[in-house]
Amino acid sequence: MNKTILILGACGQIGTELTLALRQKYGASNIIASDIREGTENLTASGPFELLDATNYEAVEDVVMHYEVDEIYLMAAMLSATAEKFPARAWNLNMNSLFNVLNLAKEKKIEKVFWPSSIAVFGPTTPKQHTPQHSIMEPSTVYGISKQAGERWCAYYHQKYGVDVRSVRYPGLISWKTLPGGGTTDYAVDIYHKALSKGSYSCFLKEDTRLPMMYMEDAIRATLELMATDPGNLTVRSSYNLAAMSFTPAEIAQSIRERLPEFTISYAPDFRQVIADSWPESIDDSRAKKDWGWEPEYDLRKTTLEMLDGLGK
Ligand SMILES: NC(=O)c1ccc[n+]([C@@H]2O[C@H](COP(=O)([O-])OP(=O)(O)OC[C@H]3O[C@@H](n4cnc5c(N)ncnc54)[C@H](O)[C@@H]3O)[C@@H](O)[C@H]2O)c1
Repeated sequence: MNKTILILGACGQIGTELTLALRQKYGASNIIASDIREGTENLTASGPFELLDATNYEAVEDVVMHYEVDEIYLMAAMLSATAEKFPARAWNLNMNSLFNVLNLAKEKKIEKVFWPSSIAVFGPTTPKQHTPQHSIMEPSTVYGISKQAGERWCAYYHQKYGVDVRSVRYPGLISWKTLPGGGTTDYAVDIYHKALSKGSYSCFLKEDTRLPMMYMEDAIRATLELMATDPGNLTVRSSYNLAAMSFTPAEIAQSIRERLPEFTISYAPDFRQVIADSWPESIDDSRAKKDWGWEPEYDLRKTTLEMLDGLGK
């Protein structure tokens, strides 16, 4: 049976590819994309699209009622680097959009919610290697604080009201179809653009800053698999650790040089270095593997080939 799904913040880096994947899986007319801005043509022209502010409860409720929406994927948020510049706006967007969606589920107007968390929920006191599912969480960024609070509210709404909300802690996501939206791991996308257009890149992180990363195709598949699994399989209702690879700027540069031997990189760390230094280097995602069979497919080498081929088209 086909369900109707609403995506809030559908025009962003993840939302665009997620919408197209959901339209492929469930039929284009059942997937309502929405954002406060127009998206790429392949997104707005391939199925229903609504201009919609995720922080406006009545407006979101209207769309839910109009299309008889069953599930919401909430992708609207302010990301880590931008949120440091606009703390109050980030808190307002990241929290109020989540409350709107959780309350719609609490009132049984929708059946299921997907809301992404991030590795930014961890902080400088968290063990950096192979960070466990349950660990010290003292985030030092506005974005991380909003994601940690969001996780607690998701777990609370599940426990108290039986809301079927599901979540993963995405690492930095790498994609060529859409640009990233103001995060600390954006360099790992920009570097491929600059490698092809200029042959060189100036990186805003130091050469040895190791961070957890994932190719977009893996992230989308993880999202669809988590949402499709039987609720009885789920033992985590805050957010699942999710991992694929970890690398440094020097290592991604080296993997690019295997295809483009002339490529050069220089380093000019800025305010994002402090954010990156507070995050884990690698993530233990054994719980996601055990509960719903998660398995990544893309390592750094495969990601580099896909990125250079995709952007070169
Ligand atoms: N991209 C990553 O590497 C990454 C990593 C971890 C977690 N996440 C999380 O995944 C989610 C999506 O991230 P993304 O990278 O696609 O972000 P993005 O910035 O690329 O996209 C966010 C979208 O939300 C829209 N938006 C902003 N305010 C809105 C509002 N009031 N109402 C409706 N739409 C609004 C923006 O126009 C944009 O299209 C976010 O929750 C983010 O925190 C992303």
